[in-house]
Amino acid sequence: VQRSLVLVKPDGVRRGLSGEILRRIEAKGYTLVAVELREATQEILAAHYAEHEGKPFYAPLVEFMLSGPVLAVVIEGQRCIEGFRSLAGATDPTTAAPGTVRGDLGRDWGLAVQQNLVHGSDSEESAAREIGIWFPELTR
Ligand code: GTP
Ligand code: MG
Repeated sequence: VQRSLVLVKPDGVRRGLSGEILRRIEAKGYTLVAVELREATQEILAAHYAEHEGKPFYAPLVEFMLSGPVLAVVIEGQRCIEGFRSLAGATDPTTAAPGTVRGDLGRDWGLAVQQNLVHGSDSEESAAREIGIWFPELTR
């Protein structure tokens, strides 16, 4: 059975959408394995976003992710990696389909980085890597 690392990003926590996002995850049928409100750190984000280092949105992305607490979540269920990406919707909240977290609850705020409410692991390999970064105690 798969696990995925989900983050409610600082915009989602600030807007009071943590509960709504957890509700959608649970309503879909996935299990919550770990849920923790915490501040990210430069160190955690450098590891988490290593694939984006050097891209134009990298520095604003890290700054945004440090702008307030995030809700770090591990979910579990058959095909939950793909399933949560489907719940989250496309990266750009303006064009994300209605019915998705980003499509229903997100918009463009005219800022340097797309504030798109959530992160979800995009493969089994990144899920294992990201769970190791955020919840090393869960690494099996
Ligand atoms: P995550 O689940 O957060 O990883 O989103 P994603 O997989 O849909 O996007 P990706 O991993 O490609 O990018 C990580 C994050 O960087 C996105 O969620 C956005 O917040 C931001 N981002 C990605 N691409 C762009 C872009 O082209 N412009 C801007 N401004 N921000 C971007
Ligand atoms: Mg990604």
